[in-house]
Amino acid sequence: MDSFLIRGGQRLKGTIEISGSKNSALPIVAACLMAEGKTTLKGVPRLSDIDSMTKLVGELGCHVYRHEAPAGSSEGPVLNGPLDITVTDESKCEARYDIVKTMRASICVLGPLLAKRGKAVVSIPGGCAIGDRPVDLHIRGLQKLGAEFRTDGGNIVGEVRGRLKGCRMYLGGAQGPTVLGTINVMCAAALAEGETVLVGAACEPEVVDCAEMLNKMGARIRGHGTPEIRIEGVEKLVGCEHRIIPDRIETGTFIIAAAITNGELELRHCNLDHLIAVTDRLDEVGVKIERQNGTIFVSSTRRLSQIEMTTQPYPGFPTDLQAQLMALLCLGDGISVITERIFPDRFLHVGELNRMGGRIRKEGPTAIIQGVKELQGASVMASDLRASAALVLAGLVAKGTTRIDRVYHIDRGYEKIEQKLAAVGANIERVKEK
Ligand code: EPU
Repeated sequence: MDSFLIRGGQRLKGTIEISGSKNSALPIVAACLMAEGKTTLKGVPRLSDIDSMTKLVGELGCHVYRHEAPAGSSEGPVLNGPLDITVTDESKCEARYDIVKTMRASICVLGPLLAKRGKAVVSIPGGCAIGDRPVDLHIRGLQKLGAEFRTDGGNIVGEVRGRLKGCRMYLGGAQGPTVLGTINVMCAAALAEGETVLVGAACEPEVVDCAEMLNKMGARIRGHGTPEIRIEGVEKLVGCEHRIIPDRIETGTFIIAAAITNGELELRHCNLDHLIAVTDRLDEVGVKIERQNGTIFVSSTRRLSQIEMTTQPYPGFPTDLQAQLMALLCLGDGISVITERIFPDRFLHVGELNRMGGRIRKEGPTAIIQGVKELQGASVMASDLRASAALVLAGLVAKGTTRIDRVYHIDRGYEKIEQKLAAVGANIERVKEK
């Protein structure tokens, strides 16, 4: 297991290329199970979660091939070649526990398998560091399309007699809409008979990206990006070429990296439209963000103001940037308040930030952050992906050395983060854990 050693205090300055979105690519790779012929995906980041998903679709009968990027290609410095996915065997229907336990997004194969192969066996995802993550809304939505479910030996077993049938349904839950649930049901509905209307659908850019790819495959989806998605089922989908959207959470993390180090970063290949709530909050903190086409320029004033922020479904402030914002607000003037509405227990970073000198008190789903003058380096533990990113950010500005253990959590979702940060002046290295 690797660790990061970060010697804090360097102002970041320079250019970072943003990778393709992990959370867009994962369900899109799963959706390729429904297509006939080859699908070519561009901008798929190289991450351990993507490796898990390509392994899973490989086990489900897909041939997956990653091209080398031609020299000087427009794929950015990470030079990722396109990913080709072709279904060659439709006989397998099982997502094993071994894979599902490492990556909950494995649930995304459920809808595509049921719609195309009429059967799916998916291990039930277990507990998760960021709180309970049930899949009841996925199941309910697919049931409404006609799939039948039972549980057997820790697996969800789904079957379809004949073809799924479109209907009008409400897909929201107690915490609001579900991103992957919307995608799962939308994928299945693309091959169902008749029209499906998803009311209370998630509006996240990742849902839109998946719908756009499905439409290139021949699906007839409208209204994606709004809470009401209309899907006219088609008989078949065929492979297409699609470029994954830029990763808005990676973009937000590097914006905060510039702000927390009082640096100046140019972020290329990103889409600021997907970060409107984030730029709104950061503007109030005192972070300056300017855009020119697909590039943004970030700088900040030395004084960071206190703010209040509540995570919300898109277009609200994303839960996936809550921990990183908290790291920044540790150095704000006065008292900031963060409320987590999507995953009310997603606060594993609080204790670790406090070990670095933060003054954060948690009350239910709310964290109260008293700004301090400086953070100090310490040995801390990466827990979930975004909590770990917050510790990297804190380490960049902390006095002395921060050691972050278990960085495999970060490798799940940030492509070459230490290389990208080192290239703009951070003193960060990857070492083998003691
Ligand atoms: N929920 C249910 N029942 C369900 C599904 C969800 O009650 O069947 C609840 C969840 O417990 C949560 C809320 O609904 O309280 C929203 O969860 P959602 O289903 O939207 O989450 P997800 O689709 O499983 C994706 C991202 C997460 C991100 C959330 C929220 C992927 C692979 N994962 O998860 O990303 O936090 O949406 O935006 O796209 C991350 O990248 O670090 C990450 C955790």
